[in-house]
Amino acid sequence: MTRAQLDKQPAEVSAMFDKVADRYDLLNDALSLGMDRLWRKVVAGAVGAEAGDLVLDLAAGTGTSSRAFTTAGARCVACDFSLGMLRVGASQPAPLLRFVAGDALALPFRDGAFRAVTVSFGLRNVADTGQALRELLRVTRPGGKLVICEFSHLPARPLNALYEQYLTRVLPLVARRLSGNAEAYDYLAESIRDWPAQRELAARIVEAGWLAVTWKNLSLGVVAVHQARRPG
Ligand SMILES: C[S@@+](CC[C@H](N)C(=O)[O-])C[C@H]1O[C@@H](n2cnc3c(N)ncnc32)[C@H](O)[C@@H]1O
Repeated sequence: MTRAQLDKQPAEVSAMFDKVADRYDLLNDALSLGMDRLWRKVVAGAVGAEAGDLVLDLAAGTGTSSRAFTTAGARCVACDFSLGMLRVGASQPAPLLRFVAGDALALPFRDGAFRAVTVSFGLRNVADTGQALRELLRVTRPGGKLVICEFSHLPARPLNALYEQYLTRVLPLVARRLSGNAEAYDYLAESIRDWPAQRELAARIVEAGWLAVTWKNLSLGVVAVHQARRPG
């Protein structure tokens, strides 16, 4: 577990997201300089959901990550444990999208229910990464797909050092001004710094029982998209 995962109880994490829910999407766009839209397109391409598919978007928050999976006619379940985030999402309903309250550590779905499962910018916030990856495996049908989109680390060391300075000094300052919630965005910076690098996350995915893990860096490694398959 990372330090950020150890420092925060699940109830504190969900309360923190409840508090930022109203401004969450606005801040995402501002802090990523709009890059989040591009990252989400890559994730939707990796999931490749087609009409008739059922996709689970875990830690879906307001459902911004989920909407892209329904454009070709697939249905998507957006699951999160912050009722505040779900409420904001459900205020903009979409025909193929269903919001469900649930904990990543004990998912309220039957075994093998989904063709694909995905998490965008949420696995880092879950208290036990291994347990969440095992729960995702359980609810995926044999041969189904996992796609994880998460902040990561820049392979070039000097660039990564600069990026860490941005995370520590600039991001919390800007976020504090825009959101008025210092705690949430100090935690964001800390949780990104502590998160395992690309290769280590791939090893954890394999440990949880997934096969054929690959990853792709976006924006020089600021974000990494990992993919894997449930054994058939
Ligand atoms: C940074 S937001 C990501 C939201 C969305 N996926 C996106 O891309 O914008 C992280 C989400 O993870 C959720 N989360 C953290 N731990 C969770 C858990 N154990 N079970 C369900 N959701 C969880 C939080 O409530 C929050 O909405």
